[in-house]
Amino acid sequence: MTVREAADLLLKARKVVVFTGAGVSAESGIPTFRDALTGLWARFDAQALATPEAFAADPALVYGWYEWRRTIVGRARPNAGHTAIAKIEAAIPGTVVVTQNVDALHEQAGSVSPIHLHGSLYAPRCSSCAKPATPPEGPGDEPADGRRLTPPACEHCGAPVRPGVVWFGEALPVDALEAAVAAAADCDLLITVGTSGVVYPAAEIPQVAARFGAPVIQVNPMPTPLDDICTVNLRGPAAEVLPELVLSLPSTAAR
Ligand code: APR
Repeated sequence: MTVREAADLLLKARKVVVFTGAGVSAESGIPTFRDALTGLWARFDAQALATPEAFAADPALVYGWYEWRRTIVGRARPNAGHTAIAKIEAAIPGTVVVTQNVDALHEQAGSVSPIHLHGSLYAPRCSSCAKPATPPEGPGDEPADGRRLTPPACEHCGAPVRPGVVWFGEALPVDALEAAVAAAADCDLLITVGTSGVVYPAAEIPQVAARFGAPVIQVNPMPTPLDDICTVNLRGPAAEVLPELVLSLPSTAAR
């Protein structure tokens, strides 16, 4: 299946959902979750670090892992895939970006208010009283191999501060999930980019769109469990495929 077929779907669409995962940020130099990890983290499975139990058992290990990620993200810049998504938004005003990513690269590329299903690296909060904590200053300065790092204490109750991300076993933010499901149910095209489609309930979002009759375009160099529900599977990296796809779009003014 070709970019041309996908472009035909995009040209007809008026309400687009762009659903993204870690793969959209891979070409910005941010490792995906299911990549092999290096350094201190090579001994751990990313999934095993992303749980409330792991944080309770070893807060410095888990806090260090997120500060390491925040350092990488802080040095990263949006790639051509993020920029192409912002162009879709500009050209088709009914576009909603739904991301599982905790970086801010969509915003930096010009996307307006993407829905963050899995929280953000920039919104730490208390692990006990849940009050927002002051985000650490600067982009982060962790060594390449990462390190353990004792989390700061909450200024209200003294409990350890935790990253403002959704861990395995935790509920997604209700407002974000409801808005994402509503947008998927109402869209006339969903584009899923760079996600393995194995983490639920997020992986339901493209499936909701398909169930409600919208075509689904997938951009991913590898097959995923979402392949079967997709109308067009574009096998390639987001930063190459998405710019090609948006070439077909007329300018914002033309629509
Ligand atoms: N362009 C597009 N897709 C890519 C690229 C690229 N350049 N590079 C890799 N990919 C694809 C991989 O083939 C894989 O299917 O991106 C996907 C990344 O999958 P995961 O690492 O599982 O990331 P994601 O789907 O975002 O994970 C979901 O799991 O650990 C949790 O909360 C975390 O939000 C995350 C969730």
